[in-house]
Amino acid sequence: MKVTVVGTGYVGLVTGVVLADMGNDVVCVDNDQEKLEKLRNGVSPIFELGVDELLRSTIADGFFRVTDSIAEGTKHADIVFIAVGTPPGPDGTPDVTAVKAVAKEIGRNIQHYTVVVNKSTVPVGTVDMVEEILIGQGCPREMFDVVSNPEFLREGTAVWDTKNPDRVVIGSRSEQAAAKLAELYAPLEKPTIFTDPYSAELIKYASNSFLAIKISFINAISRICEARGANVQDVAKGVGMDSRIGPKFLQAGLGWGGSCLPKDVAGLIKIAEGSDYDFALLKAADDINQDQTQHFLRRMEKRLGGFTGKTVALLGLAFKPNTDDIRDAKSLEMIETLLSKGAKIRAYDPVATENVRELWPQVDYVEHVYDVSDGADALVLVTEWNEFKSLDLSRLGACMKQKVLFDGRRLYSKANAERAGFEHFTIGS
Ligand code: UDX
Repeated sequence: MKVTVVGTGYVGLVTGVVLADMGNDVVCVDNDQEKLEKLRNGVSPIFELGVDELLRSTIADGFFRVTDSIAEGTKHADIVFIAVGTPPGPDGTPDVTAVKAVAKEIGRNIQHYTVVVNKSTVPVGTVDMVEEILIGQGCPREMFDVVSNPEFLREGTAVWDTKNPDRVVIGSRSEQAAAKLAELYAPLEKPTIFTDPYSAELIKYASNSFLAIKISFINAISRICEARGANVQDVAKGVGMDSRIGPKFLQAGLGWGGSCLPKDVAGLIKIAEGSDYDFALLKAADDINQDQTQHFLRRMEKRLGGFTGKTVALLGLAFKPNTDDIRDAKSLEMIETLLSKGAKIRAYDPVATENVRELWPQVDYVEHVYDVSDGADALVLVTEWNEFKSLDLSRLGACMKQKVLFDGRRLYSKANAERAGFEHFTIGS
């Protein structure tokens, strides 16, 4: 099929290369010339496992190309995906300015029946907005249908997730459009939900918010574990073995960050407000999340007797492993608080360092992981990168002023840390 994807962020680019890999004729559109240049050379502008390889092979096979022209992309395709950013506005409502601008340009250029698909996470009812924009641009109603088809990929495993979704959600009022999208996804052989566009839009918010509530729930339990001498890992295991609950997203830690969960929780709280409903449960999950890293910092401050003049070593800066994304990363919150309280910071991350350096140049970033703890009063595990699991803790501790380990992701066992001579603090025990 002929497909165009507007926007080459995580969702747009990964969707584009995976659809191209499935044998579709894909054009990706972006207005960032630097990004386009990289993409033309088969280099992914985002750090994401497998994207470079797919880019190179699909370009070589003639299934993938890029352009800066929405007009060209629209004329090319039977299906046009809108996958541009919808960042949170000041009050949490997603800003759909980019979606509007793209819809206008699509509307001006539709020349044959086209299915326009909202892939971006957008407020309930955006489907109507896009329809109105297309009509407003003089596009005859019978020339298009607008469908909501939310994306559930995770950063770090985006290619795998896109090829292996738990479900495909198609929200459409038109059977013709729904059938066209179903045909596109048919090779994946995954369960498909056909519904109306409003429900599809809400499925995305409800899914991400539920995941956030699940994490906040176990983080709340971790606080009780700390107070009562219980172990949150065992509690999560015992709870998660109930098949009605399931074991996933019950990992207690510093809280949820990233580009989606915080944004979608804020978005759904706003959608609820606009529906005359006070979503107190979701607000509470957000409050728990806001306090989770701060609570850990308070424990650190107490143990260290204040942060003034102390050197704190941070292991990991990305919001989660296998990405260089630092949007709403807990490392940023930590750096801000530690610096404001007079600490010095040394930090190491396998890939996210440069992104954090732009925001916090006053941090001492080290190139080699074993340099991070040099002269430090505390070592803090912030992101659970795989390569951190097998670090030689004795070597890390050897050059520290005080051997204190604060494990924010429960990566290290108490026994191992203590064997390496560390005093060990973690979440939920
Ligand atoms: C999320 C959704 O999972 C995905 O379906 C959606 O399309 C985009 O948003 P992502 O933001 O890439 O994906 O990361 P995810 O793996 O969901 O983790 C989000 C945050 O929750 C991270 O900060 C992570 O550290 C935290 N987390 C996750 C926990 O603290 N505990 C867990 O058990 C799981």
